[in-house]
Amino acid sequence: MSSLEGKVAVVTGAGQGLGRAQALGLAARGAFVIVNDVGRSSGASHWLADRVVDEIHAAGGKAQANRADVSDWESGRLLIEQALEATGALDILVCNAGIERSRMVFNMSEAEWDDVIRVHMKGHFVPTRFAASHWRERSRATGSSVDARLIFTSSEAGLFGHAGHLSYCASKAGIAGMTLACARELASYGVTVNCISPRARTPMALASFPQIAAPPGDAFDPWDARCIIPWLAFLCGPDAARITGQLFVVYGGVVQWMKAWGVHAEISQGRLWDDASLLAAARRMLPDLTAGLDPMPELWHIPTPQETPVT
Ligand SMILES: NC(=O)c1ccc[n+]([C@@H]2O[C@H](COP(=O)([O-])OP(=O)(O)OC[C@H]3O[C@@H](n4cnc5c(N)ncnc54)[C@H](O)[C@@H]3O)[C@@H](O)[C@H]2O)c1
Repeated sequence: MSSLEGKVAVVTGAGQGLGRAQALGLAARGAFVIVNDVGRSSGASHWLADRVVDEIHAAGGKAQANRADVSDWESGRLLIEQALEATGALDILVCNAGIERSRMVFNMSEAEWDDVIRVHMKGHFVPTRFAASHWRERSRATGSSVDARLIFTSSEAGLFGHAGHLSYCASKAGIAGMTLACARELASYGVTVNCISPRARTPMALASFPQIAAPPGDAFDPWDARCIIPWLAFLCGPDAARITGQLFVVYGGVVQWMKAWGVHAEISQGRLWDDASLLAAARRMLPDLTAGLDPMPELWHIPTPQETPVT
């Protein structure tokens, strides 16, 4: 198991699901982990973050809880400050917190749009903003690279589009774009920025896909959230110091290196198109003037409204 001994990590939305697995995984490799989560266990006053910190302590690890809404400007600032006050350092920020409001475009409310965009996009931006300004100051003060890691969380929904998940898809595609921009902005300070698009059986996933069952007995469970930990640890470790601006789909024993948007085909000329020549060129680029959607990856196929009504 690769070591993150002496590293300080913040994981957002780490009270359950993937974030919990990531916090436990980083702590098991020796990192001091600030476990952030705004949630409480259902029907109880128990904070999810506190419970995960207890688990880390019970396993002999080092952790502190943070119960803040990570999309709030001041709370995000205090989250990063908490790591610095507790340990004097910050090496890894995993932006993982997320919510989902499944709704078709024609039925989505303003609040369902705003909440999902806020938690994902602002929830990535705010802690990243304060971590990045700390790393920039540290790099300038020491005159050297800080060797820090930012891990963002996207989704295949954002890469391929899922009917019935509009605000979720928009925010996850936005996070893929933020990965590229932050990677370019922070490279000169020694901060790598990579994005994981996970698959795991978590409370969020089960709400949309209740059919994701655990295999019987001791059979390998590709939907276990712990399956993403080795790749997360690799991205956070020394061997990935020069990997940045990349997006990986990770689940089970699978890691897929995804390509960013690229030019698929082009028509061009050195003057304004007239309608007839544009139509002829369009026919060359799009034979028969048809271009349908690429299929969804098999496991995430979302039934069409005809198959399953989505409200
Ligand atoms: N589970 C999957 O298969 C899957 C697939 C693709 C992407 N993702 C992404 O992975 C991340 C984790 O998903 P999960 O499946 O573990 O979800 P989950 O709902 O099980 O856990 C998310 C956690 O984030 C917390 N959270 C929500 N808003 C917050 C906020 N504003 N501040 C702090 N904490 C907040 C919640 O309280 C919850 O504990 C999300 O970003 C999700 O979109 C998950």
